[in-house]
Amino acid sequence: MKALQFKGYGELEDQLVHNEIDTPNITKHQVLIEVHAASVNPVDFKVINGNIKGFLKLKLPSGVGYDVAGTVVEKGKSVVNFEIGDEVFGALPSKTPGSIAEYVAIESDFIALKPTNISLHDAACLPLVGLTVVQSFKKANLKSGDRVLIHAGSGGVGSFAIQYAKLKGAFIYTTTSTKNVAWVKDLGADVVIDYTKESYLEAVKDVNLVFDTLGDNYKLDAFKVLKKGGTLLSIVGQNVDDDTAKAFNMNWVIRLVLLFMRRKVTKQARAKSAIYKSTVMRPNGTELAEIKRMIERQEIKPIIDKSFSYSESTQALAYQKTGRAKGKVVIKIK
Ligand SMILES: NC(=O)c1ccc[n+]([C@@H]2O[C@H](COP(=O)([O-])OP(=O)(O)OC[C@H]3O[C@@H](n4cnc5c(N)ncnc54)[C@H](OP(=O)(O)O)[C@@H]3O)[C@@H](O)[C@H]2O)c1
Repeated sequence: MKALQFKGYGELEDQLVHNEIDTPNITKHQVLIEVHAASVNPVDFKVINGNIKGFLKLKLPSGVGYDVAGTVVEKGKSVVNFEIGDEVFGALPSKTPGSIAEYVAIESDFIALKPTNISLHDAACLPLVGLTVVQSFKKANLKSGDRVLIHAGSGGVGSFAIQYAKLKGAFIYTTTSTKNVAWVKDLGADVVIDYTKESYLEAVKDVNLVFDTLGDNYKLDAFKVLKKGGTLLSIVGQNVDDDTAKAFNMNWVIRLVLLFMRRKVTKQARAKSAIYKSTVMRPNGTELAEIKRMIERQEIKPIIDKSFSYSESTQALAYQKTGRAKGKVVIKIK
């Protein structure tokens, strides 16, 4: 089968290769999906650049991509929840990227039936960002009436997060640049801060939750706009919280290193009686089924910026890497 792979750590253009490889064998708990579309995420170029190789050891050459939508063409003996021919969508676990390929083997617990009202192409843009948002806002205990700052509301994660937080009854502040202000407001943001014209640090005060999708200074500065006792939930950087480290079975040495790495954020949180949490997306078919229902009830819609063909995969990843995508970037495989 054809598969996009990377052969070593470095620049996308140097490392990405279109290879012919064996179609994967499935285990008794897996299904084989004939891939219709995959979508790309910043994690894809971060993995290839080698930014996270300290946490994620991959055998090279490795597959690329986590988001997938397609048709079940084979199923393992123990799979009872899906049938051959089902149209499904899902996210692969961090250790086994490879959705930008003709076929993908995936645990049946990590997929759900595609929402009936959208195409497989559009469904491919949902799993990673949708699961990240659902898992993050559950962990942060987002409640109706909460005031939340969602950074980068125009990104893949941000555009899903605005719609989800709105659905949950939150009052939403978000940041983006001038060209995206109107459509981010249309998505459901109550206050849009154009970061090219004003500082969110002046426009936002006393929020219950900051959803950090940008990292760096945005993480520590979050405490300037959080109310006392509020929560900073970050999905970026290496300030992984201990719950996440345990969930990923990180050993005590790594957990100690992480404790050291998040010392500044922990200190700031303590000073503000605030809570610091982080999320790393975990594949989950049950939560994907929740997302399917939200899409079918038209509470949330998939937001796609650009679509590329399989042969244009490198351009798709390079476009994602510009950091200017408005919603998601999809690759059509079939
Ligand atoms: N922990 C996890 O499990 C997890 C899961 C998913 C994503 N992530 C991480 O979360 C981050 C966001 O992911 P994503 O998929 O949303 O990325 P993305 O789609 O590439 O984000 C692009 C968007 O960010 C906006 N942006 C860039 N700089 C900004 C700034 N200073 N202020 C406000 N908006 C800004 C851009 O808007 P403008 O063009 O208007 O600037 C653009 O629309 C990435 O670092 C990703 O790796 C983590």
